[in-house]
Amino acid sequence: MKPKVFITRQIPEAAIRKLEETCEVAVWKYEDIPVPRDVLEKEITEAHGLFCMLTDSIDAALIQKANKLKVISNLAVGYNNIDIEAASEKGIKVTNTPGVLTETTADLTFALLMATARRITEASDFLRAGDWKTWSPMLLTGQDIYNRTLGIIGLGRIGEAIARRAIGFNMNVVYHNRSRKPEAEESIGLTYVSMDELLQTSDYVCIMTPYTNETKNLIHAEHFKMMKENAILINTARGGIVNEKDLYDALINGEIWAAGLDVFEEEPVPLDHPLLTLPNVVTLPHIGSASISTRSIMAEVAASDLLKAVNGETPVHLVNP
Ligand code: DGY
Repeated sequence: MKPKVFITRQIPEAAIRKLEETCEVAVWKYEDIPVPRDVLEKEITEAHGLFCMLTDSIDAALIQKANKLKVISNLAVGYNNIDIEAASEKGIKVTNTPGVLTETTADLTFALLMATARRITEASDFLRAGDWKTWSPMLLTGQDIYNRTLGIIGLGRIGEAIARRAIGFNMNVVYHNRSRKPEAEESIGLTYVSMDELLQTSDYVCIMTPYTNETKNLIHAEHFKMMKENAILINTARGGIVNEKDLYDALINGEIWAAGLDVFEEEPVPLDHPLLTLPNVVTLPHIGSASISTRSIMAEVAASDLLKAVNGETPVHLVNP
């Protein structure tokens, strides 16, 4: 009998075909509706492999129902949506997709930084609304990027890739991380600083830490007060790392200049969220790794590790060895 695999969303076709070669595959067909809890509960009781998304909450209660499950393969590098401890206790392997999305996510982060600094979405809306009456010297003036300081909080693979882009733009790059990275300091040209120094001296503060119990609410009111008035906060990591209420207050009180956000505490972000009312907040719907080619490679990597685990082999990207 073929092992059963449940995929919680439409994914690139090639990955589905690959899984179908040796497994019985069921796919939740709706691209823009997350799989309902009752469907997931039913599917997980029979599945040997679960191929899921960062939007699926794979918690302990759900994992308890998974009597045949060998692997949970997450189509993301972050896996804060999965209760790793509960999975490990049941001997279920959990995999993610690191590495293959590094450059694409760094591209998006830099695009968001530039769009926020130069007020790109605001300027486009201004033109389309028919408000462009004449050229004027102070019209939609933004912040410079070259020669400014970028502070990266959390220097993993993506942080390093952002730093490389910033150096290309002639920025001064500082970082704060749990441990120093002497090799990156030397090869890219970065300076390690304390968290306080980073916040006090950076024109751009980029959040790149994983989302864990330690980083929940990491950036809050006290930190915004330390930042420069022209500072721009960029978050493409996870929403819960930044206190959104404190960010809103910092923006309306002029403690910082703007924010670019690809991630929110609640996703999709509710349309009446206060941050969406501010013109100096550029918002995106969690599209960090969303290029056609990267999403295809992520799906291939996740499928290949799922198959390894189902066949009793060790997946390449195992997060709970
Ligand atoms: C990830 O892989 O964790 C990213 O947030 C996806 O864009």
